[in-house]
Amino acid sequence: MKQTITIEYQEINHWNLLTPEDIELVTEAFEIAKKAYAPYSKFQVGASLRMDDQSIVLGSNQENIAYPSGLCAERVALFHAGALYPTKKVTKICVVAFGDLFEKEAWLTPCGGCRQVMAESESRQKESIEIILVSQNNKVLKFKSVLDILPLAFGKFN
Ligand code: THU
Repeated sequence: MKQTITIEYQEINHWNLLTPEDIELVTEAFEIAKKAYAPYSKFQVGASLRMDDQSIVLGSNQENIAYPSGLCAERVALFHAGALYPTKKVTKICVVAFGDLFEKEAWLTPCGGCRQVMAESESRQKESIEIILVSQNNKVLKFKSVLDILPLAFGKFN
C-alpha cells in the first residue's frame, strides 16, 4: 500500500521577523558560532537551546585533526545541557552557520547524527522541541518537532 508522509514547516524571510525571544536565540547562536573551533572545514556552526526555565545553552562545532573525533554544534549544545541540566527540558533549538561550504542561499539543516540525538532528547522529555534553522542569507525554516526533520526516526519515537 502506498503511503505518504507530510511534514509541516514555516518559511520566514528574515530572522529579524521572529519574536524578541527567538531573535535572542539567533543572536546568541551567531555569537557562539564565531567562537567555533573549525580550522579544517572553516564552516562555523552555532547552536542555541531555549530551556524550559527560559535560560539559554550554547554550543559550537569542535573539530579535530582526527576528523571523526570532532562534534557538531547541535550535539555540543545538547550534551552540554544533558550533562549540566539533566532535569531541564529543551523547548527550542536554533542553528546558524557561516562559511564557504555551501552557497549563501542554501538551507542549512542539521546532519543525520544530530537529528537522531535531537529525536532522543525530544522523546526523553516527552515534549516537542521546536527547530529554528537560519541560512546564510538570513532566511528561516521553523519546524514544530524534531520528527518533522527525521520522520521514521530510529527508536521508539513515532
Ligand atoms: N556541522 C555541525 O556543527 N552541525 C551539523 O549539523 C552539520 C555539520 C559541522 C561539522 C563540521 O565541523 C563542519 O560543520 C563541517 O561539516
